[in-house]
Amino acid sequence: MSHIFEALLRAEAERSGEDSPRPAESLADLLQTQELEGGLAQPAPDGNPEQEAVTGAEALAAAKVLFPNLAANSRLVCLNDQRSLGAEKFRVLGLRLRNLREKRKLKRVVVTSTIPEEGKSLIAANLALNQARSRVLKTLLIDGDLRRPTLARLFGLSASLPGLTECLRGERTLAEIVYRLDGSRLWFLPAGLPPENPLELMQSGRLAELLEGLGGFFDWVIIDSPPVMPLADTPFWMKLCDGVLMVAREGVTERKPLKRVLDLLDPSLLLGVVVNSCSSSDHKSYYQRYSPVSGSKGEVPSPIE
Ligand SMILES: Nc1ncnc2c1ncn2[C@@H]1O[C@H](COP(=O)(O)OP(=O)(O)O)[C@@H](O)[C@H]1O
Ligand SMILES: [Mg+2]
Repeated sequence: MSHIFEALLRAEAERSGEDSPRPAESLADLLQTQELEGGLAQPAPDGNPEQEAVTGAEALAAAKVLFPNLAANSRLVCLNDQRSLGAEKFRVLGLRLRNLREKRKLKRVVVTSTIPEEGKSLIAANLALNQARSRVLKTLLIDGDLRRPTLARLFGLSASLPGLTECLRGERTLAEIVYRLDGSRLWFLPAGLPPENPLELMQSGRLAELLEGLGGFFDWVIIDSPPVMPLADTPFWMKLCDGVLMVAREGVTERKPLKRVLDLLDPSLLLGVVVNSCSSSDHKSYYQRYSPVSGSKGEVPSPIE
């Protein structure tokens, strides 16, 4: 076990706590009682907030249910192997984020890394599944990688589900592209079909509106983003989030580019670096060294702990 992880466990043991209780009239309560109809309304500037909340809750309850169909060797441990050490590490990461939230605004979390293939999507999905274990809080997982979306496939869902791209183009409403994953309290917003002009779509201003609207209905919004290099997409997500989790992967991430990216990042956004390690081909040990690390600007933990 890494030193970082041991230290983290100690810290968490000292500070363990549960999700703060929700107000009595929470969306979760409304979800159980509302008729299944309506759309995920964008809050109207001069509308009645109660009415908006009800409309949103109705839409969430009415969201189309998708049935994950995981591959036999799926690494979504928070769904198919909750007793594994990997799942345990996501519980620690989740707890750490909840503790952080007591001290700062934290709902929209972007998961990113320097380059492709470092495990962003896998970590974003497992983290979202973990957050969705709460019986009262609602979690949304967004596939924010419009160019190379992989989350639908990871869950064994159709890769052609309409999603963010179609909504940003105005072809679909938000209510049509937010799905609920069967067997969990996790909602999913897929990327949609890769567009020719992802940057243009993201720059349109509609993305900010969408996230604003969604933030009113969800307690956690986990965004699986493209890598920071060499694309310009990720800064858009960063502008729209409350915190960034950087992923570094053993054998893939190089120290210099990681340091460069961390130096460029607004330090107030950096929540930490998740070290994704896979030094063994043994399935059980794939996650043994997922290490959520408290990071700060200038302090770059080794991806190999
Ligand atoms: N810890 C790990 N152990 C084994 N395979 C992993 C691990 N993390 C990621 N992978 C695999 O590496 C590939 C890239 O992961 P992915 O999450 O799609 O990366 P990214 O989103 O950063 O491009 C996927 O096939 C994934 O299953
Ligand atoms: Mg990815």
